[in-house]
Amino acid sequence: MSVSPNQAVDAANRAFGRHPGSRALHARGTLCQGTFKATPEAAALTRAAHLRGAEVPVTVRFSNGAGDPGHPDWVPDPRGLATKFYLPDGGRTDLVAVSSPRFPVRDPEGFVQLLKLQSAGPAATWKLPLFLRRYPEALRTLPALLPSLKPPVSYATIPYYAIHAYRWLDASGGDRYVRYTWRPLAGTHRLSLRTARRRPKDYLQTDLLERMQRAPLEFALEVQIAEPDDSTVDPSAAWSGRGRRVTVGVLRVTGPDHEREQGDDVLVFDPSRVTDGIECSEDPVLQFRPRAYSESVRRRTDG
Ligand code: HEM
Repeated sequence: MSVSPNQAVDAANRAFGRHPGSRALHARGTLCQGTFKATPEAAALTRAAHLRGAEVPVTVRFSNGAGDPGHPDWVPDPRGLATKFYLPDGGRTDLVAVSSPRFPVRDPEGFVQLLKLQSAGPAATWKLPLFLRRYPEALRTLPALLPSLKPPVSYATIPYYAIHAYRWLDASGGDRYVRYTWRPLAGTHRLSLRTARRRPKDYLQTDLLERMQRAPLEFALEVQIAEPDDSTVDPSAAWSGRGRRVTVGVLRVTGPDHEREQGDDVLVFDPSRVTDGIECSEDPVLQFRPRAYSESVRRRTDG
């Protein structure tokens, strides 16, 4: 069985409703600006322009995973941190991450089935066993991912993971597969659901703006280098943990962005928008996402 980008966006729209002008998923969020500066260690691992050491400007969007922009911030949800790096030659490259360390299923079909379960109501009870038979990895991933859905104190206080493997090529032709993590320099702090529900509906967006008035939000970018037995194609699989971890840069989110998404400007964070020195892996979820994002963009910019 395979699914089309149309079917994926239909499933998201059925789960969360269709909201004109909004993203089909990660509908609620705040756009920010900032800078990224690579550490000296990065250039030995990749020749990518934004990882050579000079500071580059970025656009960042923090978001909640739901496709309904009206969902309160305290609803348990994966949170998003999408970053667009503006390269010295005028190009751009994106890094799209969520607060869950792994994807619940190994392929796009499984994700669409999950979205369908979410909108199935009581019928989900009898559909679930069939889903788990087809996607046995969910028995392991879904319970393991629950803690990462807990509402954060702030978008600044949780780690974010880009999940897929990417191939990094250095200036001497060496290569390695890596997975990215954004580590919050403010530490990891989440709320109990009971405490979170007492916060205002938009507490995360308000907190973000207030924090940035005081000081930049900071995240260290860490890569884990794959060992030979770490899967580069299965986004639901954990890596062994033996691979070397290297801090390759620091992101500073300095203030709200009032330039992008004004008027006709369409902003898309595309996980396959890489640059020389970085290549996408053959992970089928990574390969599928750009087409689903295009379909969402088509619908959100439609008339
Ligand atoms: C088959 C799997 C997936 C599908 C079908 C899917 C679908 C979508 C769609 C339709 C959007 C809205 C795009 C737009 O209108 O610009 C979106 C946004 C987003 N997705 Fe996914 N997604 C998938 C997997 C993932 C994974 C694995 C991650 C994390 C690594 C992720 C993180 C995000 C984030 C952070 C956004 C918001 C980007 C922004 O702020 O503009 N998604 N996704």
